[in-house]
Amino acid sequence: MQLVLRHYTFLIMNDTFQFSDTEKNELLKIIETPLSGLKGSLDQVVESVIQQTKSFMQIANQHGTSCYVYDHAGVKENIKLFKSEFLSKIKNIHPYYAVKSNPYIELLKDIVSEDIGLDVSSQYELGLALEAKAKKIIYTGPGKSKEDLELILQHSNIITLMIDSFQELVVLKEVLISNPHIMLRAGVRIYTEIHKEWKKFGIPLSRLGEFWEISRSISNLHLCGIQSHRSNSTIDLYEEIIESLGNYLEQNFSEIQKKQIQFIDFGGGLHPQNVDGYYDTAFSQIEILNSLYNELEYPQYIPKEYFLMETTSLKEYAERINRAIATHILSQLSCDIYCEPGRILSNPSLHILLKVMDKKDDDIYILDGGNNIIGWDKYSSEYVPIINLTHPGTKEIRGQFVGSLCTPDDIWGYFCYAENIEIGDILVIPNQGAYTYTLRQSFIRGLPNVHHFECK
Ligand SMILES: Cc1ncc(COP(=O)(O)O)c(C=O)c1O
Repeated sequence: MQLVLRHYTFLIMNDTFQFSDTEKNELLKIIETPLSGLKGSLDQVVESVIQQTKSFMQIANQHGTSCYVYDHAGVKENIKLFKSEFLSKIKNIHPYYAVKSNPYIELLKDIVSEDIGLDVSSQYELGLALEAKAKKIIYTGPGKSKEDLELILQHSNIITLMIDSFQELVVLKEVLISNPHIMLRAGVRIYTEIHKEWKKFGIPLSRLGEFWEISRSISNLHLCGIQSHRSNSTIDLYEEIIESLGNYLEQNFSEIQKKQIQFIDFGGGLHPQNVDGYYDTAFSQIEILNSLYNELEYPQYIPKEYFLMETTSLKEYAERINRAIATHILSQLSCDIYCEPGRILSNPSLHILLKVMDKKDDDIYILDGGNNIIGWDKYSSEYVPIINLTHPGTKEIRGQFVGSLCTPDDIWGYFCYAENIEIGDILVIPNQGAYTYTLRQSFIRGLPNVHHFECK
């Protein structure tokens, strides 16, 4: 890294780019800031994958690669942990799994069998939820059509609708007037100042009272809840949002209105622990270097190190969310709590199995699956462990592990746990079930199949 930084300083100082003195000083200040983050490894994850080598190899031999491996036992174990570390710590909490994070039908069935509801955002997802025999559904998301609302009404015995806007309420009212015999249970989605780029969802918190009054006047609409969601939420953000909502209710809702609230839904956004990290390329120091290299038409900077994602444990999420709810909400009204976990439940459901097809100069390894398997160029900036099951090792070998698609962005990673790497080796990337399968696409290569571990 020192060498890289020296090169960087040289590029800035030697007038290649004709920076002004102020610009030079600013750039030097940035590069002199050491890269800091959580150092460590995901060795534990690697160990548990290696223990399952036989099962992975069985799939690779029987079905070939590339493919997804569905981990039924892993899903069940993870739900058990989620229940004991998180759900059991928050009184009257009801989880609704966010189908968008992975709609694989066997996963939905496994989740439903654990008495967890489903959170859907389209007719397509509702169809899957019904196929999985969900008994409790919330239907959320902006831009719902009259047809969406009519379908929701047909399943009003199991759906709670999260209304997204005043306009949606106008359309909903028309649909409800034409179906006077149906009573629909609903919540309203709000956003606060803290929601920032998530403001396209819901109504501003400042207009909740107005919305409440209009909705409660519709005779077959039972508005009884308030929903909020923001992905990539830090624990501080959950606390701040809950506090803002509590303060608003205290100042604006009458005692009668407070009694009408049956649930508060704080959404999803819980990040799984010990699954991923990020490369040094995510730092602005290296980003600037890369753009200087680009200008000079130098080869791209290859990540030299990675840092682990700093995450909150389930226990801490539960403790702090529970405390915020008790302090700001349950101190003034009594209601159920809903949540919409996505990635925290789907991430361990799928592993990706690949094979080494070719080795080029500069330690470039071509694998037999491309990033169409996951639908986006996630791994050029995010670190996930790659594990060689044919030649397993406890240390990581550096290289460029890339897919076979006709684009240089088709990257799987820069490190591989291996003793050595040979053509034909089987590699696994564990715990890649969230926002991958759902975004998969047939680009150059077709969609890979999902295979299950054989039952023991
Ligand atoms: C309304 C809603 N709820 C829940 C989730 C799940 O979020 P996560 O996967 O971060 O838990 C999402 C994802 O964007 C969402 O839009």
